[in-house]
Amino acid sequence: MAVRRKTRIIAVGNQKGGVGKTTNTVHIARALAELKRKVLIIDLDMNHGATRHFGIEPEAFLGAFELLVGAEAPKNLVLTHADKEEGIDLPKNVDLIPAARKLESIDQAITTKSKFVTPREVLKGER
Ligand SMILES: Nc1ncnc2c1ncn2[C@@H]1O[C@H](COP(=O)(O)OP(=O)(O)OP(=O)(O)O)[C@@H](O)[C@H]1O
Ligand SMILES: [Mg+2]
Repeated sequence: MAVRRKTRIIAVGNQKGGVGKTTNTVHIARALAELKRKVLIIDLDMNHGATRHFGIEPEAFLGAFELLVGAEAPKNLVLTHADKEEGIDLPKNVDLIPAARKLESIDQAITTKSKFVTPREVLKGER
């Protein structure tokens, strides 16, 4: 019987710009995929470095913004190796939920939706 592997979450973040967040994210993802792990990158950076790295036009698809405000189910937002349109170049086993510029207003969008929900609760998956 196949052994089911545990899902792990790796968060890459730093408030400082240009310190290697995107570079580490995309290379760790590719390396894990080469080791036959299935990877989902969720690009939460409004500067959309990882999204652009894989040839994806940031404003062309719904993505992390719609995920965080609950406007779309995650499965409707995932781009994969099988998606070949518009220059998308994702490796096999690396999926991505893309970022867009409008993530800069995500705090406001979440707090406008309900004054009882905080952005931190949404990020932790509690809401
Ligand atoms: N280990 C490394 N050695 C040398 N250069 C690196 C290394 N990691 C990243 N870089 C270079 O540093 C620059 C910034 O890297 P990167 O874009 O990954 O940073 P970032 O933290 O995502 O930046 P931003 O805040 O703008 O999104 C890029 O030009 C990248 O090629
Ligand atoms: Mg970056």
